[in-house]
Amino acid sequence: MASRIAVLVSGSGSNMEALADACAANEVPGEIVMVASDRPCRALEIAGDRGIPTQLVEFSAFGSRDEWSHALRDAVVACEPDLVVSAGFMRILSPAFVDTFEGRLINLHPSLLPSFAGAHGVRDALEFGVKVTGTTVHLVEHQVDHGPILLQEAVAVLPDDTEEKLHERIKDVEHRLLPEACRIMLQGRT
Ligand code: GRF
Repeated sequence: MASRIAVLVSGSGSNMEALADACAANEVPGEIVMVASDRPCRALEIAGDRGIPTQLVEFSAFGSRDEWSHALRDAVVACEPDLVVSAGFMRILSPAFVDTFEGRLINLHPSLLPSFAGAHGVRDALEFGVKVTGTTVHLVEHQVDHGPILLQEAVAVLPDDTEEKLHERIKDVEHRLLPEACRIMLQGRT
């Protein structure tokens, strides 16, 4: 039986879509059973169009970060995932959420961690002037953008790069790296 994958998103959803394609092509021994977001976004629309169940757990609809966080955790627990993937999810996960999915929660970050952690990994690398940056898939721990690294790949910074251009090339790599990381996480489970 295919493993169950839940994906957390906040934005354009290109990595979620790449993962859905890889699952459909049997390159990953799993299927996305739920896509959850903290805000209305393109990623939710893409998931809906593909027939993947979606959950909008809108941050602004809750009175406190704790209430929102519990609701998100409950929504993800309810779909009984073997693997939870944070792919462009733009909110910090609570310690309780991280504890609930310990060892089966991974995050995709657009830099070579531990360099350029935080919300602007691409911009910060460009502004620092590094010649090489990249992307990282890692297991999530309490500290943001921290935790054992599963896969990393470098991307060269070009002389005329903008944040957008560089991020697009990083995403091209991520669309291959994230499914590979999921395959590694799930292999042996089926
Ligand atoms: C990716 O670059 C990921 O590394 C970062 O957010 C971006 C999400 O892009 N955390 P998308 O929504 O998958 O297109």
